[in-house]
Amino acid sequence: MQITVTVNDVEYTRDVDSRLLLVHFLRDTLGLTGTHWGCDTSNCGVCAVWLDGKPVKSCTVLAVMAHGHTVRTVEGLERNGSLDPVQEGFVACHGLQCGFCTPGMMMTARWLLDHNPDPSDDEIREAISGQSCRCTGYENIIRSVRWAASHEKEAAPQ
Ligand code: FES
Ligand code: FES
Repeated sequence: MQITVTVNDVEYTRDVDSRLLLVHFLRDTLGLTGTHWGCDTSNCGVCAVWLDGKPVKSCTVLAVMAHGHTVRTVEGLERNGSLDPVQEGFVACHGLQCGFCTPGMMMTARWLLDHNPDPSDDEIREAISGQSCRCTGYENIIRSVRWAASHEKEAAPQ
């Protein structure tokens, strides 16, 4: 069937199989390979994107369910050539090793800071609790999110 989905402010119309998952639509149909696919059990969270402004695991959503809706992926974090503070935080605090979980972590972190600009460590841990990182032990991811929160606070108009 034909679907139209707005991804990172660009409207795409494509013919898709009704069983196609959103993660595969993004990666294979649109070529947006920043969103990763890491399991068959909906456990790892590396596939997290925003659907109408809310984080979802894109392996649990059919592409046809996104018809008429908006999706934001990690490719949509950078604006006008500038990295999002969350991306800068992951660079500054070494929040990644292999990077496989990183796109999903960043999308969740961005959503968290948009709704809670000064989260505690426990709130950060809870926000990313649906996502697995096999490398970092999570400490540097939490530091990265804190870095982004404090830099956004400094940059905010007083
Ligand atoms: S790919 Fe593992 S939760 Fe989606
Ligand atoms: S950095 Fe390797 S899985 Fe998180």
